[in-house]
Amino acid sequence: MEKLYGIIGDPIGHSMSPVMQNDAFTSLGMDAHYQPFHIMRENLPTAIKGMKVLGVAGFNVTVPHKTAIIPLLDEVDPLAAAIGAVNTVVNIEGRFIGYNTDGEGFIRGLHEEYGQSVLDKRILIIGAGGAARAIYYTLGQQGAKQVDIANRTLDNALQLKERCPYLVETAAFTIEEAEKNLANYDIIIQTTSIGMSPKVNASPIQLTNIRSAAFLSDIIYNPAETLIMKEAREHGARVQNGMKMFAYQGALAFEKWTGTFADPKRMMKIVQERLG
Ligand code: ATR
Repeated sequence: MEKLYGIIGDPIGHSMSPVMQNDAFTSLGMDAHYQPFHIMRENLPTAIKGMKVLGVAGFNVTVPHKTAIIPLLDEVDPLAAAIGAVNTVVNIEGRFIGYNTDGEGFIRGLHEEYGQSVLDKRILIIGAGGAARAIYYTLGQQGAKQVDIANRTLDNALQLKERCPYLVETAAFTIEEAEKNLANYDIIIQTTSIGMSPKVNASPIQLTNIRSAAFLSDIIYNPAETLIMKEAREHGARVQNGMKMFAYQGALAFEKWTGTFADPKRMMKIVQERLG
């Protein structure tokens, strides 16, 4: 019988996950369908019950449900629990188990492009929201040595650091402080929504002091090149956008559901074609 997968969120109409995951099912000859479900905040508990009754085999979770879903699940993986956000749910014999593949997806995508281990590098994360937390804690879990955080609101960066359950050497900075220290970093990770379409003419930090040998990774993939990426390139730095992270978080979710690792390159191509 055809298995049903999906994604829940609000809004959900622009999500690239359905086209990406349905292509993976089809190309691997699997009898499954991945459906977007528009679920509003107040309907989340009912939606989860409904999905369980209907026997949905697995689903992704996006804004605004990544944190609110946690108490509604039967079990949550320790890393996802530490991050405080779930983006992937697997139905195992009627029990819903939550995972977070965003951080791991990011690190796989970064590693592929960077070409060497990222864990012993000096890393700066810009931003202290949900995406930053997933990346920072996953880097910590995997043994990264130095990961600093720069954020508009210093207190949010400090909280991120203090709540990290993994041993990482970390300093929290304001954006202004980080701008002065920027030459210290091998890798800079942009996790805020600044520069995202349609407000493409903005950057969260000035790159005057970036090293030409640095690598800048922006988790935004629309536009394909953000202002900060362009500026980093002009300083001689290597850059990447968030497309690989998106494909890898999807491939990792797909693997949790099916036991098969879908091809992230194919996933990326599908999304790129769709974005035009
Ligand atoms: P997400 O879950 O997608 O990471 P979020 O939790 O809303 O999003 O976090 C947004 C991040 O972008 C935060 O680091 C936020 O900084 P504050 O902690 O100071 O709010 C940052 N951010 C959002 N808008 C910003 C702006 N206009 N200037 C600077 N930083 C901004």
